[in-house]
Amino acid sequence: MTATPDTLARAIGTPLDRIEGREKVTGAAKYAYEYQAENMAYAEPVQAQIAKGAIRSVDTTETLAQPGVIAVIWNENAPKLADDADGELALFQSRRVAYRGQYVAAVVAETPEAAREGQRLLRMEYDEESHDVLLREGHPKLYTPEKVNPNFPAELERGDPDGALASAAVSVDVTYRTPAFHNNPMEPHATTALWQGGDLILYDSNQGAPANRDAIAGVFDLPPERVRVISPHVGGGFGSKGTPRPNAVLAAIAAKVVERPVKVAVTRQQMFAVTGYRTPTIQRMRLAADADGTLTAISHEVVEQTSTLKEFAEQTAVVTRVMYAAPNRRTAHKLARLDVPTPSWMRAPGECPGMYALESAMDELAVAAGIDPIELRARNDSEVEPESGRPFSSRNLVGCLREGAERFGWAGRDPTPGARRDGKWLIGTGVASSTYPAYRRAAQASARAEPDGTFTVRVGAADIGTGARTALTQIAADALGTSPANVHVEIGDSALPKAGVAGGSMGTASWGTAVHRACRALLSGDGNEAEADTSDEIEQQKKLARHGFGAQFAEVRVDSDSGEVRVPRLLGVFAVGRIINPKTARSQFIGGMTMGMGMALFEESVMDAEFGDYLNRDLAQYHVPACADVHEIEAAWLDEDDDELNPMGSKGIGEIGIVGTAAAIGNAVYHATGKRVRELPIRLDRLID
Ligand code: MOS
Repeated sequence: MTATPDTLARAIGTPLDRIEGREKVTGAAKYAYEYQAENMAYAEPVQAQIAKGAIRSVDTTETLAQPGVIAVIWNENAPKLADDADGELALFQSRRVAYRGQYVAAVVAETPEAAREGQRLLRMEYDEESHDVLLREGHPKLYTPEKVNPNFPAELERGDPDGALASAAVSVDVTYRTPAFHNNPMEPHATTALWQGGDLILYDSNQGAPANRDAIAGVFDLPPERVRVISPHVGGGFGSKGTPRPNAVLAAIAAKVVERPVKVAVTRQQMFAVTGYRTPTIQRMRLAADADGTLTAISHEVVEQTSTLKEFAEQTAVVTRVMYAAPNRRTAHKLARLDVPTPSWMRAPGECPGMYALESAMDELAVAAGIDPIELRARNDSEVEPESGRPFSSRNLVGCLREGAERFGWAGRDPTPGARRDGKWLIGTGVASSTYPAYRRAAQASARAEPDGTFTVRVGAADIGTGARTALTQIAADALGTSPANVHVEIGDSALPKAGVAGGSMGTASWGTAVHRACRALLSGDGNEAEADTSDEIEQQKKLARHGFGAQFAEVRVDSDSGEVRVPRLLGVFAVGRIINPKTARSQFIGGMTMGMGMALFEESVMDAEFGDYLNRDLAQYHVPACADVHEIEAAWLDEDDDELNPMGSKGIGEIGIVGTAAAIGNAVYHATGKRVRELPIRLDRLID
């Protein structure tokens, strides 16, 4: 191959339209539930009606008499799964019930309607035990886990935070609460399953076909090459599709039992039980500072929940180890195992709830010290990652705060709460920092030169609505020295070169590196095909701390009679290396910021202690921002040249947009009203006495 890539125009940095945009808007793009096969059957899960106990008996008579019903599957007749299968995926392996809504049986029928009617007619008897579903401070079951996700120490302490707090010129000691949040991607989880010989094929909605293939193969005790997962288009995930969900296992079990292809679609209602959620948190924040605002101690102690099925420990306080310098530090997590579904990955796990607490507390400290909140943050910026002492590959937090202040019009802000008014509306502005790690994971890719002069690039990546397919096309085009129009990128299939999930905001960095290397290997080699495996580079990354940073600004209007909060303006400024595609990047940022608005004002999964479950069951009860809630929302970014990252010089952008937004809005609400609401969401009843 010969080409001169460096002399051609770069595709990276241009606002290329989504490659699959037309397919999506015309309905041609196929999602998991839309794949057809001969002789399709439909499975409908039956969900536990108790929060703890065991199934005593199942009477299938009426269900099996229902026209169209083919089978009822439960513990008595279900295929045996691997002994070490994940508790959330070990469907029908036990009569025990670990939480209300758990899949405990399924009805398979000729049509979805018959399956649902059969499900309605199924008679299940339970031996119910008393349950415990409510997280609270001082819960007797609280314990310190060994690690928090993915592999951080649960507790770290340096110096003498209590001593520093006791002798501080200025301090805050406050507790913030966040409720459970449910991910709710637009496309509910769905799977179409087929067995061919002993091989399993799944059309499934997930965040990474190869990783999901491996996990499903494990559940069925199959070698990975006997399972194929196909997922070219996915309608959002936000973490809830990072690992397989019970629907994928159910479809495969049902297809095995009835020896036909089977579809399973999780309903919006079921999503509140079986597709993951973010743990509620109780976060005690203590900050101590000198009179000039220099932090002397930071203590961040978190209480959160997991299930009895497995431990999932959100890394809520870990971000505090990254943010501000202070000699005396404590970060700690405690968990309670409750009779609830297992919490899971959701939108910047750890950073999102943790930065809500830290950045709200920083605002409270700024008020207590009489210092501008931007100056307070700038004063406590750190040259090195505070906890580890590692240098940053780049850290432009202060640059983002200053640029944001300029764009937002921060100068001259009167910090007095309630000072600005427009009729009955109280107006306030708030700021918060944002951050997210710039991770990278091993990936493989291949590149092939086609006889017609185009290129085919293959990588087991996922585009869950982010624009990943488009970004990878741009990366490949630059590496090949050709136009994006000449590059065809294949993703979303476990048969492609192995790559990690679209998660942890590391997709583009991980897949893009492998794609870049494969394309360069193709150019420098003799053949018409080349492969790359970037696993060896990952270890070297640990020498430096790699994080994106940002600053979130919010303006709010609060109705002084009703407490209604409006958000006329949001601005996020980010320093995240090089932006591959400004159009899709902007969508990522403002999408995250919109979710942050949801977290601040609307989203709340309400646990009923008696009933033993979350009460919300749909988007009428679980509120997310609608178009009318989102007014002016802008994202900007600094040029950041960081050559310690990857060949593209990029940091992840999928999750940083949500981090800090809720704190910025909460801080603006305080500025508008003088009321510090320390429990999300900031509902009007929490603002009005
Ligand atoms: Mo994202 S919550 O890391 O899939």
